[in-house]
Amino acid sequence: MLTKVLIVIAATAASIQTASGATDKILCYYASWGANRPGDGKFTPEDIDANLCTHVNYAFLGLNDDGSLLILDNATDIVNEGLKKVSALKKINPNLKAIFSLGGYAAGTAIFTAVSADATKRATMAQSAIEFCQTYDFDGIDVDWEYPLEGDRENYITLLTELKEAFEPHGYVLTVAVAAIPTDAAYDVPAMSNVLDVINVMTYDFHGSWSGYTAQNSPLYASPLDGEWQRDNLNANSSITHWILSGADPQKLAIGIAFYGHAFTLTDASQHDLGAPSSGPAPAGDFTDNMGTLGYNELCEFHKDGTIAWDDVQKVPYMYDDTLWVGFDNPESVGLKAQYAKDNNLAGVMIWSIETDDLHALCGTKNALLQAVHDNMK
Ligand SMILES: *[C@@H]1O[C@H](CO)[C@@H](O)[C@H](O)[C@H]1NC(C)=O
Ligand SMILES: *[C@@H]1O[C@H](CO)[C@@H](O)[C@H](O)[C@H]1NC(C)=O
Repeated sequence: MLTKVLIVIAATAASIQTASGATDKILCYYASWGANRPGDGKFTPEDIDANLCTHVNYAFLGLNDDGSLLILDNATDIVNEGLKKVSALKKINPNLKAIFSLGGYAAGTAIFTAVSADATKRATMAQSAIEFCQTYDFDGIDVDWEYPLEGDRENYITLLTELKEAFEPHGYVLTVAVAAIPTDAAYDVPAMSNVLDVINVMTYDFHGSWSGYTAQNSPLYASPLDGEWQRDNLNANSSITHWILSGADPQKLAIGIAFYGHAFTLTDASQHDLGAPSSGPAPAGDFTDNMGTLGYNELCEFHKDGTIAWDDVQKVPYMYDDTLWVGFDNPESVGLKAQYAKDNNLAGVMIWSIETDDLHALCGTKNALLQAVHDNMK
C-alpha cells in the first residue's frame, strides 16, 4: 500500500513537472573540426564554456554498415582526444551531458535507411552506442539523419524506440535533429515526442544564396516580402508552431539557433536591403571554408567595418560590406529566440554550432552569442 501511494505521488509529481516544465536546455553542437581551423578560427573543446551549455553534442560520428558507431576523424577525436576533452568538461559542470551526434547532412541517408530497416543492425547500433558511452564517458546520442523519407517512417520510429529502450537502464539521453518543416510523410511526430528526450528543430537555412535575393538565414518571424507559403513555412515561429500542431509536446522541442549566417554576393553594392538582387553565394570564409556561409567569428574578425541593420519584423540583423551581404544572428537575436523558447514553454534551445562564436571577443564580449542565450534563458 505504502509503495502504491509513493508510486502515485511520484507519478503525479512527474506529470506536474511535464505540464509546467522548465525551459532550461541549451544543447550546444560542437563541430569537432573547429579544433583544426587556422588562426583565430581554432576552437578546441577546452574553449567550450561548460557552464553555458546543458548538453554538448559532439559532431559527428558515423555508422558502420553493421550499425556500430564509427569514429570519422581518428586524429581529431582520438589522437588529439577530442572526445576525452569534451567528457572532461563534466568535471567543470557535473550536470553537463556529453552526446555523440551521429550523421549530419554530409553523411547522407543511405546508411540510416539500411540500419533502421534491419533488426540485427538496430540492435548492434544500440549496443555499440552504449559501449561508446561507457568507453568515452558520454551520456547519450543524437540521431542527425538528414532526412528520413516517407519509406523510412516506420523504421525511423522503430529505431528510436529500440534505442531508447536499450538506453533506459543506463539513463542515456536520446535526441534527434529534424527538418524545420515536419512532413507527415516522414515523421510520426506524436510517436517521436513520446520516445525522445529532445527534438532539435533546425530552424535555420530558411534562405541562402539559392534564393536569388537577399533574405534571412534564421528569421524568427515572417517577412512582408514573403509569399503565403514562405510566411507559413520559412521562419522559426511557423516551424515550431507546425511541430506543436503536428503533435509534439512543446517540452520536447528545442528551437535551433545559428551561430553563422548565409552570405550572398550583391549584384549591385548600392542595393543592400532585404530582397536585393544577388548573383550567388559569397566566397568561403578563411575559417569555415564554406562558400555561401560565414561564422559569427568571421564577421567579427574580417568584417567589422560592415554596416549592420536590424530587421525588426523578422527579429534578426543583416550586414553588408561592399558586395557582401549576410543574414546572421547577433546577441540580440539569439536572446529573442531564447525568450521565444520560454514564452512557448519549449524544452529550450539548440545551437549549431558553438565553435563559430566570438571566442576572441573581437565584437566585444567573449562567446557573446552563447552568453546571450544563457542569460536570456534564466
Ligand atoms: C586511432 O588512434 C589511436 C591512437 O593513436 C590508434 O591506437 C588507433 O589505431 C587509431 N585507429 C585508427 C582506425 O586509425
Ligand atoms: C507564429 O506562427 C503562427 C503559425 O504560423 C501564426 O499564427 C502566428 O501569427 C505567428 N506569430 C507571429 C508573431 O508572427
